[in-house]
Amino acid sequence: MSALTRSPAWKALAAHRASLEGTALRDLFAADAGRFDRYRIALDGMLLDYAKNRITDETLALLTGLALQQKLEPMRDAMFGGQRINITEDRAVLHVALRNRVDRPILVDGEDVMPGVQEVLARMYAFCHKVRDGEWRGYDGQPITDIVNIGIGGSDLGPVMVTQALTPWHHPHLAAHFVSNVDGTHIAEVLRRVDPATTLFIIASKTFTTQETLANAHTARDWFLANGGTPETVARHFVAVSTNSTEVAKFGIDTNNMFGFWDWVGGRYSLWSAIGLPIALMVGPERFGELLAGAHAMDEHFRTAPLDANMPVILGLLGVWYGNFWGAAAHAVLPYDQYLARLPAYLQQLDMESNGKSVDRDGAPVDYATGPIIFGEPGTNGQHAFYQLIHQGTHLIPCDFIAPITSQNPTGRHHAMLLSNTLAQTEALMRGKNEAEVRAELEREGRSGAALEALLPHKVFAGNRPTNTILVDQLDPCRLGMLIALYEHKVFVQGVIWNINSFDQWGVELGKQLAKVILPELEGQGTKPHDASTVGLVGLVNGGKVA
Ligand code: F6P
Repeated sequence: MSALTRSPAWKALAAHRASLEGTALRDLFAADAGRFDRYRIALDGMLLDYAKNRITDETLALLTGLALQQKLEPMRDAMFGGQRINITEDRAVLHVALRNRVDRPILVDGEDVMPGVQEVLARMYAFCHKVRDGEWRGYDGQPITDIVNIGIGGSDLGPVMVTQALTPWHHPHLAAHFVSNVDGTHIAEVLRRVDPATTLFIIASKTFTTQETLANAHTARDWFLANGGTPETVARHFVAVSTNSTEVAKFGIDTNNMFGFWDWVGGRYSLWSAIGLPIALMVGPERFGELLAGAHAMDEHFRTAPLDANMPVILGLLGVWYGNFWGAAAHAVLPYDQYLARLPAYLQQLDMESNGKSVDRDGAPVDYATGPIIFGEPGTNGQHAFYQLIHQGTHLIPCDFIAPITSQNPTGRHHAMLLSNTLAQTEALMRGKNEAEVRAELEREGRSGAALEALLPHKVFAGNRPTNTILVDQLDPCRLGMLIALYEHKVFVQGVIWNINSFDQWGVELGKQLAKVILPELEGQGTKPHDASTVGLVGLVNGGKVA
């Protein structure tokens, strides 16, 4: 048994969980009119309501006891203090420095990183002004109209998600496009829509060695050169965002047109760095600054609020509660805002690449569940797809419902309809509908006898399904920054509880290595030994058809 599962706090939670067997959320609400007042946290136009969870005051005390036992506060302070908590890569973890809005130095090995952060931000902002004001011109003197970000993983998902979320603040004469997939269709479809004379490519890669990004970058440059561009004008149309100036120069981008960041910024935590350049170009430096300020407000809350009044801590502990003590393997993120359509995809990388681990920080196998499967879709679409399973399936799936009180697009009754669905879903998941209620309903509909009895079990909802509701006044850059930082810190909290390193991603390497072996086989350069299935599939691909 691991030290964690042997620990007093863990055992106390297991015993407490057993004592809650059979306790229904609807009964907890009926017995306690103050539940909503007690189980909510508000911060700067954002509210977390966590009353609809299988918890009591004792649960929360035991969960915060677990956090204390696992040294959450010292680990949090170590992160903010620039210590090398990413032990397998021997790196500090300082995305919080990128949005540090106060004059607090943040030291890595005794050196303040803040002047470097400010310097890159200033260069980014100056560049944004030139492009946005039409001062930065393409090869034939026209202003830039289209920005194509080429990157993948953390160099894509954050910029895509945020750029889409902040659509109401976009520059009226700029359009953003994102190319990530190595599938040639992705870049082909984007290149079909843009004009080389007025397009700016951002090649975004922390390492500048990622196969997909370099393949797309080379294709973009070849297309540019074949369509009016010249080697001399590449500099006006290609900029890079990277930590690797050597590889950027090797690719042929002038390092004067490179925006740097640092090894202490993890890929999936990098949208706050120069990786956020497409966002800043689209919404402008002022709005980008508000995004950073929102994240900073959440950082300060996480750093200073008591554990039991701390949004990321509560979200993280609730996830541990369900994952480790109630057997929940998945967690749904359900934004009731079309602008947040890509939030679930973004959070998949943030959470699953961070906490999809099965050895602890010392390399010992864990004997407890770690990060959950994250999925979601914007409401109300998800309601008509997978909510059936959440309501009546055999898996317990805790959900986060996220919604703005005010819409960016007030349109008739749409927003009230949207929010009525949000609130109704959390109520339905909590309350369910018991046999007596279904029976009464069927009788009101005029059913009776065998027909009623046959239908009855199908219409029963067990209820007692946990949800969090995150309401924001409106989805503006500041609130979005807060929301993203909330999830970043939630993931951090869980990694600390599970004693895993949330900041490496060795699990993505094996597939990359094997793809390098198979690629030459698909290009007619001999064969390598594989299992029978892989050999068979390589043969079919090389043969050009499946049978
Ligand atoms: O998929 C692995 C990964 O290393 C991610 O962590 C990262 O965000 C992505 O690849 C892209 O890496 P880079 O920015 O170096 O191209």
